[in-house]
Amino acid sequence: MKPINLMRYLVRLVTPPEGTVLDPFAGSGTTGCACEVESFDYVLIEKRERFVNEIISQRLEYWSDPENWGDLKDHNALPDPSTAESEESSADAMDESTLDQFVEGES
Ligand SMILES: C[S@@+](CC[C@H](N)C(=O)[O-])C[C@H]1O[C@@H](n2cnc3c(N)ncnc32)[C@H](O)[C@@H]1O
Repeated sequence: MKPINLMRYLVRLVTPPEGTVLDPFAGSGTTGCACEVESFDYVLIEKRERFVNEIISQRLEYWSDPENWGDLKDHNALPDPSTAESEESSADAMDESTLDQFVEGES
């Protein structure tokens, strides 16, 4: 699972105004959560039903409520994408054990 503030930065970096974000490998849905905060439309695709039913839907509901945005500790500390220099970043992977840890941590 990627940090939501990282994904907020990335969706702002690559999405034009009024654009729609597509994440065809949604995982825990962090991309969609970031879009909720940043007010972008989005489409998520995830093949594992358990991710969709037990994680993604709950997280999207949580982050769709601005009352919860206080949890974004560095909400105002994001760099401005228009001034960012390009950097390579490594992708992280999620497997079943990661999901199990996440589900246990959320309950
Ligand atoms: C590394 S995770 C994505 C992490 C996610 N972007 C995030 O930030 O939380 C990759 C996800 O892609 C899903 N996936 C793999 N192949 C897929 C396919 N053909 N269609 C839909 N989802 C797929 C896996 O189930 C897994 O949850």
